[in-house]
Amino acid sequence: MNYLKIGIISMLCLVNWNASATERWFNQAVVDYGAGLFQQNCAVCHGANAEGTSDWKKTDANGNYPPPPLDGSAHAWHHSIPQLVRSIKEGGIKLGGVMPPFAEKLSEQDVLAVIAYFQSRWPDDIYTRWHERYMQ
Ligand code: HEC
Repeated sequence: MNYLKIGIISMLCLVNWNASATERWFNQAVVDYGAGLFQQNCAVCHGANAEGTSDWKKTDANGNYPPPPLDGSAHAWHHSIPQLVRSIKEGGIKLGGVMPPFAEKLSEQDVLAVIAYFQSRWPDDIYTRWHERYMQ
């Protein structure tokens, strides 16, 4: 039995999908769990603080885009939760990018916790704009 997983699932049952624009949909326990998964699976490309690559709009010598920031300073906030889940599960390779798919490695709960982690780094104004667009 994986008690940590059960704990996370019960935490995710407690997430607040009806949160207002100024409160976040996740709690600190979900963020902490997602932070560990992010460091293990994502930080190597997207940076320990989800800061990505500063020149993320410019392709490299092979014509690939570098990993973008996920901390609210790039495009991640232009996507709904289901779109972010899909990007992470499917990766970018089949769209001509380089990010590997995580569907086999991370459960739905894990992916949501990772999203909670990088959303916890978004400034309030960005989070509020995202919330108004996708959560109402
Ligand atoms: C091997 C490097 C690499 C790893 C590991 C990686 N990514 Fe990415 N990620 C990228 C690149 C590069 C892109 C840009 C699209 C592409 O090339 O596939 C991207 C794009 C994204 C996007 C879309 C961003 C946007 O603004 O639309 C999200 C969300 C994302 N990654 C989240 C994650 C998460 C969460 C993890 C860990 C579970 C992760 N990535 C692991 C390299 C990586």
